[in-house]
Amino acid sequence: AKKEGGQPKKKPAQRPATSVKGSCPHSVANFSEALVERIDLQLKVDFEEQVLQGECKLTVRSIKPAPHVILDTLALAIESVTDDNGEPVHWEVEESPPPKSNFGQSLVIALPASKTTTLSIKYKTTEKSTALQWLTKEQTQGKQYPLCFTQSQAICGRSLLPCQDTPSVKAPFTISVTVPEPLTAVASGEPSGDPESSGNFRTFRYEQKVPVMSYLIAIVVAHLESCQIGPRSKCYAEPGVIHAAQKEFQDIVEDFILKAQEVVGGAKYEWGSYNVAVMPSSFAYGGMENPNCTFMSASLIPGDRSLTPTLAHEIVHSWIGNLVTNAFWKDFWLNEGFTRYIERRVLGKIFGPAFRGLLLLVGYNDLIKAVDMLNQQGTPGLTRLEPEIDEIDPDDAFSRVPYEKGSLFLFYLEQIVGGEQQMTDWLGAYVAAFRERSIETEDCKQHFLKFFKGVKRIKEIDWEHWLHGEGLPDFDLSSYVDRSLVDESRALADSWLNTSTSDVETGHMKAQQWMLFLDHLINAVVAGTSISHDTLASMESKYKLSLTKNVEVSFRWCLLGCKCKWPVCLDWTEKFLANHGRGVYVKPLYMALKAFDAERAISVFQQNRGLLETWFLFDKQESNLCCFPICFSMLQNLKDRFGLKCLWIGRWPVLLR
Ligand code: BES
Ligand code: ZN
Repeated sequence: AKKEGGQPKKKPAQRPATSVKGSCPHSVANFSEALVERIDLQLKVDFEEQVLQGECKLTVRSIKPAPHVILDTLALAIESVTDDNGEPVHWEVEESPPPKSNFGQSLVIALPASKTTTLSIKYKTTEKSTALQWLTKEQTQGKQYPLCFTQSQAICGRSLLPCQDTPSVKAPFTISVTVPEPLTAVASGEPSGDPESSGNFRTFRYEQKVPVMSYLIAIVVAHLESCQIGPRSKCYAEPGVIHAAQKEFQDIVEDFILKAQEVVGGAKYEWGSYNVAVMPSSFAYGGMENPNCTFMSASLIPGDRSLTPTLAHEIVHSWIGNLVTNAFWKDFWLNEGFTRYIERRVLGKIFGPAFRGLLLLVGYNDLIKAVDMLNQQGTPGLTRLEPEIDEIDPDDAFSRVPYEKGSLFLFYLEQIVGGEQQMTDWLGAYVAAFRERSIETEDCKQHFLKFFKGVKRIKEIDWEHWLHGEGLPDFDLSSYVDRSLVDESRALADSWLNTSTSDVETGHMKAQQWMLFLDHLINAVVAGTSISHDTLASMESKYKLSLTKNVEVSFRWCLLGCKCKWPVCLDWTEKFLANHGRGVYVKPLYMALKAFDAERAISVFQQNRGLLETWFLFDKQESNLCCFPICFSMLQNLKDRFGLKCLWIGRWPVLLR
């Protein structure tokens, strides 16, 4: 209960955990009939078999009379289901009705007539559990112990436990994880008590008191150390990276939390601690906002804090996404667009308006690239802010559009309502109104309109254009932002493009300015300009870009080299691909490398396929790139267009010609 004036304030007893009626397109859960109100999960980690043995207790409340509770599962081996008294309950795993059959299986469990029931489900995960990634000890930083972690967003939570795997349902949970000594388990809650030893195993317990969506249930098991990085913050990492991580995040983490809180109008930080767990650089994302335990890729520790904007981003999710949540995956921009907008406000507060301007324009470039890619891929519908994605896996729809079009929309609204302070006032009211709830785009719109009903200019807003229009919105960002840092990058790029050299002093340039500089060059090459190998070589001798520790810069330098078919970049590219798994880097880079030197692309891929499970593979003849799971729809497209057959080997889709 929230404390106010020293008095614990009770929540209304029947407050619904969801504000949403009906059902979710990506889940079979009948949550409007039978709602999972609480989860108690026990897991035992088996590194030999690479499976988790689970027992999950679900407290189910009947909303209206229903014979069953229906849960989402994917590739789980269900062993038994019992009721409050330990008596077996009738259950069945059924094929879900199409198109939901693409997203997993239905676990249908008979419900007794009582108002609330606690069901206990025993199960095991399998090798097809998409939420789990297993690393052998050789694949870890320390090379001594294996490692395992989960990534459930968007709809992989169902392969970790049977659950109502929709962002419309929120429940508090506890989780206990039993792991072999001397490994540590960290999960997305507050630790409860010390670990308990038994034989060669230890059990770690965590509790999440704030009701959250299934996609935020997360664990990482590894040989981990921890250290303090702020008054309410710890960092967990393998011993070999803990010092670098501490140096990177120390103090800045608290700074970001406090500034984020200001930008959201002073709304309370509701989670207690804010910790960071460093993931291997094969992690498919830069960061993941698991509560009390943000997962952060080791790729984002360059040593100079130049990539801490991602930390700011994940921190902002503590209010947006984790507290106020998109009801369905079509509303994903309510999570990510808002978070990007606020993240850049936070960074602007700390590093000044010119830096905010730089980030906004880097983001706009990302939006241009994303729109271009989605158009080329034949899926222009995905360039909408609120896309129609009922029939496809949200991971297939994933792109920078909800991030960048969403945050651009909020930036535009900032201009309409009169500035940053007005937006902050609104965000405060928005979080207060919708905390612990899941909302749709329409709820957000209505709240905004009501809040600003006195502001005349809101009549100008073309909601239809912004929410449902395709492609780039009709708004000229560049004339509204502080361009001082941006123009430097542009001038530098122009100088190289026009004169094949530059005398401009670059010592002071920020990492984001280098990114933008390289983006300009990449855009120019994509548009047909050619940059000679000599020019690239003199750039390298001047700036030593191949030696940068900044993964964003290094990624762009490799990409530019490949696009210019510059043989010198092959070794760097190979090294990059051996060390990174983040999708936003490896996908474009493999594609560019393949277009440059297909044989090399395949051999590099073969050496590193273990890193890449999440994203793709080459087909049997090792000449076509296939994607997993992020690009199922693309795969489907290829199949249909070229009449190819698709064969499944475990989790691997293999296209046959
Ligand atoms: N929640 C996302 C990551 C995510 C989104 C995982 C959808 C699975 C499905 C996270 O907060 C995020 O946005 N990460 C970004 C960080 C960047 C925008 C600063 C990433 O990893 O690229
Ligand atoms: Zn995010």
